[in-house]
Amino acid sequence: MSERGKKIYPYDLIKMKEGGEIITMTVAYDYPMASLIDQSGIDVILVGDSGGVMALGYDNTTPVTMREMIHFCKAVTRAAKRCMVVGDLPFMSYHVSPRQAVRNAGRLVKLGGVDSVKLEGGSEFAPTVKAIVDAGIPVMAHIGLTPQTATALGGYRVQGRTAKTAKKVIDDAIALEKAGVFAVTTELVTAEVAKILKKRLSVPLIGIGSGIDCDGQVLLAYDILGLFQRYTPPFVRRYANLSEQVVSAMSRFREDIRARRFPGEEHTFHMEKEEYEKLMAEL
Ligand code: KIV
Repeated sequence: MSERGKKIYPYDLIKMKEGGEIITMTVAYDYPMASLIDQSGIDVILVGDSGGVMALGYDNTTPVTMREMIHFCKAVTRAAKRCMVVGDLPFMSYHVSPRQAVRNAGRLVKLGGVDSVKLEGGSEFAPTVKAIVDAGIPVMAHIGLTPQTATALGGYRVQGRTAKTAKKVIDDAIALEKAGVFAVTTELVTAEVAKILKKRLSVPLIGIGSGIDCDGQVLLAYDILGLFQRYTPPFVRRYANLSEQVVSAMSRFREDIRARRFPGEEHTFHMEKEEYEKLMAEL
C-alpha cells in the first residue's frame, strides 16, 4: 500500500516516474467503489467511459454522453479524498473542434469535480490537447487501442505488432507529450513498443494490456473484482470473484425471507407495552 497520505496531483505522477516509483491506477464509476479504492492506497482513479458498458450495459463506449460522464465523475469525486481523479471525455465530446473540447473538459472539471481529463486519439489530437492544457486543465492521453474508435482500427486488436504500426504509436505518444499531456495511457500495445515509450517519454506511461515495462498499470475495478460477467479481457488478473459472492448472498437473503428467518427480532422495533394496550383498547 502506498505511503502517500496526501492528495495526489498530475505533478506527483511525473515525480513518481522520475523517482522510479510505480504508479497504480484503477477505473471506477460510483461512490462506494471510489471510496474503497481511495482507502486501498491506489494513486489514481480513472472515471472511464467504460462505465457505459460496465455500469450502464451498453454494447460499447460510443453511446456514452457528457451527462452520463458528469454523473459518474460527481459520484467518484465525492468519495476520492486522496486519489487523483481523471475524467474520460466521451466519444464526440472533443472531436468537432478544440473549442468544443475545452468546453467539455471544463464541464468535467467544474461539474464533475475531476482533477484532469483523458482523451483517446493520436497526433491528430495534439492541437486539441494543447487547447485544453492552455485552458489550465491537465490532460492524460490514451493511445494504442482506442475503444471509442475500435471499429476504425479493425476491432479490439493488439496495436504495434508491425514496424509501421509500432512507429505510429510511438509518433503519437511523442506528439501528445509535446502538446502538453502529463501522462500517456497505452492500451493493448505490444511490450516492445511500451518499453521504447517508457524510455522516450518524460511523462509517465500507464499501461493496460501493454506488458510490464510501463511506469504504471491500470485495470478496471469491476475486472479486478470479478464483478462483470459478460467478458474479461485476456490481460486482466482477477483478485476476487465478487459476482459469485453477490449471487450467493442474494439467494441466501431470498431463502431467509421465504423461510421467514428474516427479519429477526434484532431487526424489529416495538411499541411500549403501555402504548400498545392503549391502542388495543381503542380498536
Ligand atoms: O474507459 C476506460 O476504462 C479506459 C481504460 C481502458 C484505460 O479508458
